Amino acid sequence: MLSLEDIFPPFALRIACGTVELRVLRDDDLPELVDLVRGGIQAPGLPMPFLRDWHELPFAPGTPDGFPTTSLAWWWTQRATFAVDDWRLALTVRRDGQLVGMQDLHARDFAQTRTVDTGSWLGLAHQGEGTGTLMRQLVVGLAFDELGAVACGSGYIVGNAASAAVSRKTGYVENGRRRIVQHTTQGKVGVEEQRVLVTPATYVRPTGRVTVQGADALRRFLGIER
Ligand SMILES: CC(C)(COP(=O)(O)OP(=O)(O)OC[C@H]1O[C@@H](n2cnc3c(N)ncnc32)[C@H](O)[C@@H]1OP(=O)(O)O)[C@@H](O)C(=O)NCCC(=O)NCCS
Repeated sequence: MLSLEDIFPPFALRIACGTVELRVLRDDDLPELVDLVRGGIQAPGLPMPFLRDWHELPFAPGTPDGFPTTSLAWWWTQRATFAVDDWRLALTVRRDGQLVGMQDLHARDFAQTRTVDTGSWLGLAHQGEGTGTLMRQLVVGLAFDELGAVACGSGYIVGNAASAAVSRKTGYVENGRRRIVQHTTQGKVGVEEQRVLVTPATYVRPTGRVTVQGADALRRFLGIER
């Protein structure tokens, strides 16, 4: 019988460096993921980092309106709408086997643009230990080395010093600012986003040895020619 990885090759992807491992989110991860979110994400003094304050919604499992139901649709949508010209990999980040955060990788019309975009977060208890930098370096390395990307974009709300530092340490350079809308429980809020971009010429690699499994099958699934 075929395995789940044979049917949906993103599940076979595994990127590891030292004690940190990135894999595509599975339903079995969801209870641990929900617990992680409940422990908090946003550090005091830093701006709300997301387009929606999904992580602050009332905790009400098993009801239609509260968290985690409000976020399940987003996590499942990334699989349900997966397409060669618009794909999204929601990667769990585990350190010493424990789920500590998520690192997302997204591309639209990758065959033509060869450009990906990233977003990421860690549970509060797991921030400030270098994991945020390493997970970003790993996913950018995947994009450049395995998928043949020529650029990786990202963005952070102006004032998010932690995200700015991660971008700088991964080799991103500033790529303009734009005004965006955040959806919060208080309504829509206009904020300034700093866009950043990293290319192979400026990319800073992790210092440890990186192993990648499942890249061949992923390339085939995404229709990427080497
Ligand atoms: C952004 C985030 C992923 C960074 O991960 P991290 O593991 O905390 O970062 P690292 O430990 O790799 O540290 C990277 C740099 O950020 C700095 N940093 C970390 N937390 C910081 C804070 N609260 N304020 C200022 N700088 C901070 C560190 O000092 C380090 O820089 P240095 O090595 O020059 O000292 C994490 O803080 C997070 O999840 N934040 C909330 C969600 C978020 O902002 N996501 C990004 C959306 S764009």
